[in-house]
Amino acid sequence: MSAILIDGKARAARLRAEVALGVAEIVSVRGRAPGLAVVLVGEDPASSVYVRNKGVATREAGMVSVEHKLPADVGEDALLALVATLNADDAVDGILVQLPLPRHIDADKVIAALDPAKDVDGFHPVNAGRLMIGQPALVPCTPKGCLMLIEEALGDLSGREALVIGRSSIVGKPMAALLTAKSATVTVAHSRTRDLAGHVARAEIVVAAVGIPAMVQGEWLRPGACVIDVGINRVVGADGKGRLVGDVDFASALPRAGWITPVPGGVGPMTIACLLANTLQAARARA
Ligand code: GUN
Repeated sequence: MSAILIDGKARAARLRAEVALGVAEIVSVRGRAPGLAVVLVGEDPASSVYVRNKGVATREAGMVSVEHKLPADVGEDALLALVATLNADDAVDGILVQLPLPRHIDADKVIAALDPAKDVDGFHPVNAGRLMIGQPALVPCTPKGCLMLIEEALGDLSGREALVIGRSSIVGKPMAALLTAKSATVTVAHSRTRDLAGHVARAEIVVAAVGIPAMVQGEWLRPGACVIDVGINRVVGADGKGRLVGDVDFASALPRAGWITPVPGGVGPMTIACLLANTLQAARARA
């Protein structure tokens, strides 16, 4: 048996097409396109690539993308002032501050300064809290995309055994909340978890978001499990060339899983598509 490959690229393309239709509708009603402001501090190469890709995708969906690039040594006050300006700008429906921020800036303070109605990352405490109490508004993009892929593979998740590996505020915690809301039985594993293999062996759904290359071994999986690999780790292969691998050992997981996301081409494209969906949602809510 070999797992069905979950084609995140194709699912993301469908979502982006739906968003583009919604954008066209808003333009016809309001006479202006939704706007997304992306703030990048410094010149981290990975963050620069993400921000560029987000800008391209935003424009492709018919929305306005405005990028604000600030030097790495920008003061926290100046960044907070930019956030205040964007909060007050009626042409801006969504604001994304690319993380990580330089160490001299308190990222929590910056996130808390965002207007929750424009927080398309879903990181603001109000949006995080709403998700926890079952009144989701803007939901973090990566777990939102993962849930779409899981539901497409498995359908109804009620009563399913789900394991989320990782407890970050960006992926693990919101992922657990989303799966709980779908009535799955959710376990959250993390760096202090004992017997990770034992937890993996019970799970019908495994979401791996730890950032450790090939940490989850295929032999641990329950046969037929739906495996969602959020990891994007750059490693150097035996040939000396760099390549991207996930948190799951793909080669050993493939014969055992029922469904699996490849890296790249699985979760990654869904994150950007969900950012566009969140920006449309924010624009609709503000219309
Ligand atoms: N850095 C890595 N992932 C993300 C994300 O989803 N949003 C933001 N703002 N920064 C990130």
